Amino acid sequence: METLEKKRLAAQAAVRYLEDGMVVGIGTGSTVNEFITALADRRIRLEGAVSSSQATSARLRELGIPEMDLNSAGDLALYIDGADEATRHGALIKGGGAALTREKIVAAASKRFVCIIDEEKLVDVLGGFPLPVEVIPMGRSYVARRIVALGGQPVWRERVVTDNGNAILDVHNLRILDPVGLETEINQIAGVVTVGLFARRGADELLVGGDGGVRRITP
Ligand code: 5RP
Repeated sequence: METLEKKRLAAQAAVRYLEDGMVVGIGTGSTVNEFITALADRRIRLEGAVSSSQATSARLRELGIPEMDLNSAGDLALYIDGADEATRHGALIKGGGAALTREKIVAAASKRFVCIIDEEKLVDVLGGFPLPVEVIPMGRSYVARRIVALGGQPVWRERVVTDNGNAILDVHNLRILDPVGLETEINQIAGVVTVGLFARRGADELLVGGDGGVRRITP
């Protein structure tokens, strides 16, 4: 089965969590795009969707799904998003699509975070996927030096500017044995806006699409 088909299976399974009249947080990426398509196909009438990126907002507009601002929506019952890597404990690497900061805000404001992935993304130890870090542009080199001191190898994602006007460093060569500790440590470096480790607030459920269908993991 193709990877996109596995993503689609997970995305379609997540649509079953929705009910008419809900306000739902929606992440970013190709798996989430499958989720938005399934949501429109099944004609679920949300009160609104809180988007985590300009790309997702554009997709919601295309399909006529009403968007709400997080400041007026308050706490959300549910957040649906993908990830670049996930452990069975619900710790995630996110930010491959550069939307990590807004994703982290919407995840934090949500009571339940359901993460939709294909089975190749499920790992025992995070770090095979380079860890994205959003940084204030003037602090990029300083942050990079601090990350080298932590044992990582940061690579500037050139030509990418986040929705917040910032830069992204992708940190290679990490074997993340203490996701909560590393999340805290990197977030404390001056100039870091957000690290794409979602461990303090990880996923509450994983829906994993694979050859055998969709597996539900509750950490
Ligand atoms: C965007 C993200 C995405 O969830 C992550 O990159 C997964 O993307 P895809 O569903 O396209 O594989 O964190 O910032």
